[in-house]
Amino acid sequence: MAARILITGASTGIGAATAREMAPGNTVFLHYNTSEREAGEVAVAVKEAGGTPHLLQADLSEKRGAELLAEQMNELTDALDLLVNNAGGIVKRETLDETEWDTMLETFTLNAFSTFMVTRWMLPLLRAGRRPQVINLTSVAMRTGSPTAIMYASSKGAVDTFTRGAAKTLAPQIRVNAIAPGVIATPFHDKATSPEQFDQFKAATPLQIVGRPEEVAQAVRFLHESTFITGATIDVNGGMYMH
Ligand SMILES: NC(=O)c1ccc[n+]([C@@H]2O[C@H](COP(=O)([O-])OP(=O)(O)OC[C@H]3O[C@@H](n4cnc5c(N)ncnc54)[C@H](OP(=O)(O)O)[C@@H]3O)[C@@H](O)[C@H]2O)c1
Repeated sequence: MAARILITGASTGIGAATAREMAPGNTVFLHYNTSEREAGEVAVAVKEAGGTPHLLQADLSEKRGAELLAEQMNELTDALDLLVNNAGGIVKRETLDETEWDTMLETFTLNAFSTFMVTRWMLPLLRAGRRPQVINLTSVAMRTGSPTAIMYASSKGAVDTFTRGAAKTLAPQIRVNAIAPGVIATPFHDKATSPEQFDQFKAATPLQIVGRPEEVAQAVRFLHESTFITGATIDVNGGMYMH
């Protein structure tokens, strides 16, 4: 049966790959912020793969963004089966000595607060869904800590803890899981990582390669098809962090 899926940050990278992976036979709500052209291309790909795309725009780095996204979703559908909280990024690389209140607030609003509130506002739609699930994108950085993006890593740590709390409070009806990617080749690094840093990350990965966004999308599909997993975080990181 067709699933109704909302992917935030579906215009590029992991979100776009997830939209393509999950498209066949499904209704896919594609959220984007600034990359309108790329989001349009993803919508075309979803349609070509046999899915039904809908585009939604909202800036999730501000308080109003999550609300705006929820309003659009309530107009478009009366139920949701899968919410993928994927939108995010390093607003600005800062060490602890460089940390500014405003960038810290924007970083937490984009990566953590919007994830919390989009989830909260999607609860009525999820409760009306079939085998509903929330999947949050965190990061290997929340496990290792990041000296050059300390608030980004901390905001992802908050999302990981939220995943477990939400999994407990929303069980048994709604499952909540997370995926913690390692270094994945996407526009994320074009915006925030120098070529030298990127090479260092690759060298610190035991498999000595960077991941492709499709490999994270496959983990989303795996969780979507699973039935006995909740409150879990799946590492897709080439061995960069091992428990
Ligand atoms: N790539 C990696 O190595 C890596 C590693 C660990 C975790 N992650 C996480 O994986 C997720 C996807 O990242 P990615 O690598 O696919 O990066 P990406 O290609 O840069 O995609 C980021 C997505 O988030 C959206 N976004 C960014 N700022 C936004 C804002 N203010 N409001 C709303 N949406 C916003 C972007 O939308 P527009 O372009 O339309 O503005 C885009 O669709 C993120 O949560 C990231 O933290 C990535």
